[in-house]
Amino acid sequence: MRKKIVAGNWKMNTTLAEGIELAKEVNEKVKAAAPAGVKVIVGTPFIHLADVNRLATDIEVAAENCAAEAKGAYTGEVSAAMVKSTGCKYVILGHSERRAYYGETNEILVKKVALALENELDVIFCIGEVLEEREAGKHFDVVKKDIVEGLFNLTAEQFGHIVLAYEPVWAIGTGKTATSEQAEEMHKFIRSVVAEKYGEQVADDTTILYGGSCNAKNADELFSMPNVDGGLIGGASLKADDFMTIITARNNH
Ligand code: 13P
Repeated sequence: MRKKIVAGNWKMNTTLAEGIELAKEVNEKVKAAAPAGVKVIVGTPFIHLADVNRLATDIEVAAENCAAEAKGAYTGEVSAAMVKSTGCKYVILGHSERRAYYGETNEILVKKVALALENELDVIFCIGEVLEEREAGKHFDVVKKDIVEGLFNLTAEQFGHIVLAYEPVWAIGTGKTATSEQAEEMHKFIRSVVAEKYGEQVADDTTILYGGSCNAKNADELFSMPNVDGGLIGGASLKADDFMTIITARNNH
């Protein structure tokens, strides 16, 4: 049985003090509500990770990135081993903002994924098309290409440590969410791509999250879809109440 997950991606938001406050609030709310069927993750900036991991009793913590090299003279980089040493169990890799603004290619991501798995971090691997690609009817090809190039060097056992996040770029931070039908159509396709490579059982066990303007109002509708296993939440994860509403919506389905 695949896990249901609601993960926040705080991106480059919150000072350390604000981040600790937000994480505490989320942790307390999750503890009180005890949504048994949902794994809750907060993805925070690197400098927050150690402190947030110390206070996290009812939530998991993810880094938003890690380096493509194991260690050494790479000024400013943070390795997968360092992320792991803060207590994290997850790392988000391949977010469209990193692909678009920091030149992150599938070739680089193959190295990052390998290092994350070596360090026993599960990977939330992001994929998704830009608007022009959808309008040209290329969205399925684009998403498949990123999965094949970024992940299909993995063994089936390793692939068990991957969570996929479909995030159509045109829906990120725009307030323009994919319809539940669009999300379901793509998630179903993604599952079939995984099945072709690793078989039905692995595909069935793979958690596929939706991200892109998922919020307290539309989460329930999105999560009613059979192949939408949860969400990767940007803006709405910065407000504990909204994030909790999304978690509750996931738990109710
Ligand atoms: P928004 O929820 O702010 O659209 O961001 C989605 C996202 O990029 C999560 O990784």
